[in-house]
Amino acid sequence: MTLAPMIAAPGANAAAIPAVGYGTMLFPEPERAVELISHALEYGYRHIDTARKYGTEQWVGEAIRASDLQREEIWITTKVTEENAKADDFTRSLDTSLKTMGLDYVDLLLIHWPQPSVPLKETLSALARAKRHGLTRHIGLSNFTIALLDEAVAKCPEPLVTNQIEYHCYINQERLIAACRKHDLLITGHAPLARGAMLDDPVITEIAAAHSKTPAQVALRWTVQQPGIGVVPRALEFSEIEENIAIFNFALSEEEMQRIGALRGRHLRVIDPEERRPAWDKP
Ligand SMILES: NC(=O)c1ccc[n+]([C@@H]2O[C@H](COP(=O)([O-])OP(=O)(O)OC[C@H]3O[C@@H](n4cnc5c(N)ncnc54)[C@H](OP(=O)(O)O)[C@@H]3O)[C@@H](O)[C@H]2O)c1
Repeated sequence: MTLAPMIAAPGANAAAIPAVGYGTMLFPEPERAVELISHALEYGYRHIDTARKYGTEQWVGEAIRASDLQREEIWITTKVTEENAKADDFTRSLDTSLKTMGLDYVDLLLIHWPQPSVPLKETLSALARAKRHGLTRHIGLSNFTIALLDEAVAKCPEPLVTNQIEYHCYINQERLIAACRKHDLLITGHAPLARGAMLDDPVITEIAAAHSKTPAQVALRWTVQQPGIGVVPRALEFSEIEENIAIFNFALSEEEMQRIGALRGRHLRVIDPEERRPAWDKP
């Protein structure tokens, strides 16, 4: 069993998030969902990433109840979707999430996507209120660009701790990551395996062979070896679940980090829904 170390942000926003979480978006076989999440918990994951939109909150709750772990030992992130950006809808959505999971609180609540038709201040006030009411320990953003992040930090009445963004070695997010760090925010990399796109890359496979690791482990290691960055990979095989957290017993050299980092020039964005994407930052 591997326990992921914590990533922590310096400064006032201090929150310590387990650096590897189990992503629960798109489970094609719902009947296996609880089994998969339970396996992740048994195998050392202490961070589960869900969202109202994923339809997986119920299974997350079932897996927590079925485990021997105390609630405080597990970091649970959920998200309020952009359709619920208005304050009342936002509050109702969180209420439904908590009821669906059977929890009193989550560890982190995120605005899933920016919503241009609702004033950001209104959504942020609802987000901050959830924290003040003890319904979430921390609050954050997801899929926010530099401009939206700056606006959110300026307008949010409570400190934000992370921006969950697509991040892996096939996408250049350097400017956005620098903006997150400037505001003392952690970065949570979603789709950290680019849905498998980089797993056959010759640079990745060569470095994986040199370390006797799998390409997925090298790709994830490259990301978490950068300061203040965690990942939430999804895997549907027990062996992959185990593999994806067993990335803390080796390190990539500076040269390997740079060779893998150079792949970002491909700039492959795998999560880019036309109906809700903001004007992404240029690399
Ligand atoms: N905030 C957002 O807007 C947002 C957007 C997207 C995702 N997310 C979060 O990020 C999580 C992960 O994203 P994702 O599921 O889109 O993509 P991902 O984690 O980049 O990739 C998942 C794919 O990689 C494969 N895989 C996983 N581990 C592997 C391994 N060790 N070896 C080989 N293949 C492996 C899986 O294959 P199998 O299916 O065969 O296991 C799956 O098809 C989501 O579950 C969700 O929690 C958030």
